[in-house]
Amino acid sequence: MTQRIFMHWRRRLRIFIPILWCRFYHISLLIVDVVNQDSGGATDFDTSDDKNKKHAAKKAKRLREQEIRAAEERLLEKDIPRDEDEFEKLVRSSPNSSFVWIKCMAFVLSFADVEKARSIAERALRTINVREELEKLNVWVAYFNLENKYGKPPEEAVGKVFQRALQYCDPKKVHLALLGMYERTEQHKPTDELLNKMVKKFKHSSKVWLRRIQWLLKQNQDGVQSVVNRALLSLPPHKHINFITQTAILEFKCGVPDRGRSLFEKMLREYPKRTDLWSVYLDQEIRLGDADVIRALFERAITLSLPPKKMKFLFKKYLEYEKSLGDYERMEAVKRKAMEYVASSLA
Ligand SMILES: *[C@@H]1O[C@H](CO)[C@@H](O)[C@H](O)[C@H]1NC(C)=O
Repeated sequence: MTQRIFMHWRRRLRIFIPILWCRFYHISLLIVDVVNQDSGGATDFDTSDDKNKKHAAKKAKRLREQEIRAAEERLLEKDIPRDEDEFEKLVRSSPNSSFVWIKCMAFVLSFADVEKARSIAERALRTINVREELEKLNVWVAYFNLENKYGKPPEEAVGKVFQRALQYCDPKKVHLALLGMYERTEQHKPTDELLNKMVKKFKHSSKVWLRRIQWLLKQNQDGVQSVVNRALLSLPPHKHINFITQTAILEFKCGVPDRGRSLFEKMLREYPKRTDLWSVYLDQEIRLGDADVIRALFERAITLSLPPKKMKFLFKKYLEYEKSLGDYERMEAVKRKAMEYVASSLA
């Protein structure tokens, strides 16, 4: 059977090789969800404890993306399978590489051979070592994408693959991967249903609640406040500040900035000494770019009575802001205020 398909390819390849290069985008499409998995939740806020860990994780992610890109280029250069032998050689030399398997799936899909693509996915899932979790998950995601496009009917076919994936991979990751696909392909009803399920199933996960909120905001739907309240009832207290901060950032980025402001203000009333909160709040205003609002916020921040190190941080940030506008008079004014602060704290 396989032999015949590959003979079939060989016959058709002469015609198809030129367009194979354009077909390569299939692969990027098939793996896009996994590569982007972490970018959904606006995670640019760090509590100082987590900073190093997150920094390392980000670095690892970046490295991985680089590796994928490099692999993509290498494969484009020399490793296009032209027949069954080459295909076998490729998967035998890199049996754990989801990229190679997905490439093969994309390759047969370029001949619209959906059955063959399915069988490659199945074989990949049997072959990739159980310890290579991420590689396996990549294949599951590619499988979701395949069924989403060619399943009959898609939602049912995706659902079946999803149920199977749940038995083998981390359930939260599998849910997030499916969610990513639904969001990317703008399937509103399945996205809503899945998110409702997820906030029940993973009610201790900030990430999941934030995806719920992000989706509401992007759809311009109401009810953010009630979701936030429900989330705060479910999330453990130590996650609250980070969760509210992320929600506020989402409001600034894709919702109603005023609601973001009142979230920050509420937190700062409770934790006026958290310079990290001031800093993220200022960053959001700076991104919106209303100089009057930004300066008013800086002026509030520099009248706090905090330890010198924290004050220095705030003055420096203020100075950098004025510098970015190229306003030298105001830079001098900030420096003067900093000196006044130093003088008064010495007195
Ligand atoms: C596949 O992954 C397993 C587990 O990580 C590893 O022991 C094995 O050497 C890998 N195989 C190849 C060919 O890289």
